[in-house]
Amino acid sequence: MRTHYCGSVRVSDVGSTITLYGWVDRRRDHGGVIFIDLRDRSGIVQVVSDPQRTPESYPQADRLRSEYVVKVVGRVSQRPADSLNPKLATGDIEVYADHIELLNPVRQQLPFSISASEHEPVREEVRLRYRYLDLRRERMAQNLQLRHRVVQAMRRFLEDEAGFMEVETPILTRSTPEGARDYLVPSRVNPGDWFALPQSPQLFKQLLMVAGCDRYYQIARCFRDEDLRADRQPEFTQLDMEMSFMSQEEILSLNEALVCHIFKTVKGIDLPRPFPRLSYQAAMDRYGTDKPDTRYGLELVDVSDVLKDSGFKVFSGAIAQGGIVKILPIPNGNERISNVRIKPGGDLFQAATAAGAKGLAYIRVRDNGDIDTIGAIKDNLSPEQKAELLARTGAKPGHLLLFGAGEVATVNKTLDRLRQTIAREFALIDPAAINLLWVVDFPMFEWNAEEKRLEALHHPFTAPHPEDLDDLKTARAQAYDLVYNGYEVGGGSLRIHQPELQRQVFETIGLDEAAAQEKFGFLLEAFEFGTPPHGGIAYGLDRLVMLLAGEESIRDTIAFPKTQQARCLLTGAPSGVEPQQLKELHVSSIKRPKGNTA
Ligand code: AMO
Repeated sequence: MRTHYCGSVRVSDVGSTITLYGWVDRRRDHGGVIFIDLRDRSGIVQVVSDPQRTPESYPQADRLRSEYVVKVVGRVSQRPADSLNPKLATGDIEVYADHIELLNPVRQQLPFSISASEHEPVREEVRLRYRYLDLRRERMAQNLQLRHRVVQAMRRFLEDEAGFMEVETPILTRSTPEGARDYLVPSRVNPGDWFALPQSPQLFKQLLMVAGCDRYYQIARCFRDEDLRADRQPEFTQLDMEMSFMSQEEILSLNEALVCHIFKTVKGIDLPRPFPRLSYQAAMDRYGTDKPDTRYGLELVDVSDVLKDSGFKVFSGAIAQGGIVKILPIPNGNERISNVRIKPGGDLFQAATAAGAKGLAYIRVRDNGDIDTIGAIKDNLSPEQKAELLARTGAKPGHLLLFGAGEVATVNKTLDRLRQTIAREFALIDPAAINLLWVVDFPMFEWNAEEKRLEALHHPFTAPHPEDLDDLKTARAQAYDLVYNGYEVGGGSLRIHQPELQRQVFETIGLDEAAAQEKFGFLLEAFEFGTPPHGGIAYGLDRLVMLLAGEESIRDTIAFPKTQQARCLLTGAPSGVEPQQLKELHVSSIKRPKGNTA
């Protein structure tokens, strides 16, 4: 029987005989004395064997190699003063191995070393191919444990302190409207029909409110077939919540208590409450994004009114066409950012054009206060305009002002990217800072230029602001996002609970009565039977854990993630299937599976 986990042996155990199981993290031979770092989920302990003190275990210890699985029975002993290891929780003791049993050796060359004592960078493809080995490594093992503790803290708070109950919702279901492509599953018993995997439990959680559940939560798997990025996976996990009879303010306040509980439990950090709130409009104006990283300044300044009559056509033309001109003021940017980088071919120029900008105008404020810029702007700015630009942006000698001019969305996207790049380059971000804020008052709809129609910014079940009911098209939504250091970690809204209003919203996004019935008839029908006012939120668990762990990709917080190409390198999924399976499913494929040349 195991008596201890490796990482839990302490000085108080000195003198006792203990039994450990684990992996050989490292084996060192110091002139006939063998030291084995034995590792399990809890950590590492030093096991010692030598021919004098532990003659029985010595031959076995001599044969051990990295990652062999062993059982060790030994005596806990105080380490000599000169070999204490303050970096290890078990660094005051060692275990003299009376008996070592080899349970299983490693039979192949390891693809990479597991021990944290060897800092060998490993390519992600190799890590994902051998994920079970990668998860043995300290960093990944800690991320998994952190994720577990976050979920545990969520459950404790929601169940024990806030009266939520967990309900599971279907995985095989109908398409849910979160705006991504669906993963589809053909139905064998209903030829020609398809299930969709849920993009979120949105509709079911609303139906649970109709059912009287009052406070629902679920650690819910969601599936979205969208282009992948470092913070997106095709299947990911939400903490999904819905509650009845609560105002937006009450929902935000309860969620702040939840988030504070998580930070306190897993990080020991007391976050100040209430969290700051920023309207969507203010976020877009000041940061060019609805998920601003507020750990640093570099706020954008709209100068459209100053430049609308400027002789510089790039500015006045943009404004005349309904666009804007904004400035990203960069203190000390003058010296640190050369013209080469801002002009065509330069990295900042390229970043701007990749975001849709046509160019990148600038002003440099010289040390004597003179301003210096590219010809066309200089010749077309009056002294009053120059003075006004400097005053608006608070520019001082040394400032570099970068301009975005054009369509609102493009200007914001461009300056948002540049702002983030500059903040990183100038080391303006305090890595220890935790900035959480609510972005509120989103618009209900945004224009989809491709499909030439309005679409719901959150989803079409979001309730409009009661003051804005006269014109739904321009209404604000009772929606909120939680932003954590520039990442959207959660989002939700109050929902529509009146069928008439729900129909109007469907109409506004171009869903006529028949289409609405076809897609969401079951929801509209449910609304006929006494639906409580309700609202909710969902957190991206993977993202939240990524930020808490200080990682840069959610792949590092998911046990078995997919690659950017939506593949599992460990199992080889997705893969071809037998023709017979397709036949049974009434499906025929126009593609031959990869690797199958027959
Ligand atoms: P939303 O679509 O904003 O809202 O999703 C909620 C949160 O889930 C996370 N998230 C993702 N994480 C990883 N990979 C993805 N592909 C991915 N997509 C989203 C984000 C996001 O904030 N039903 C609504 C919630 C509600 O209204 O209650 C919903 O799903 O952190």
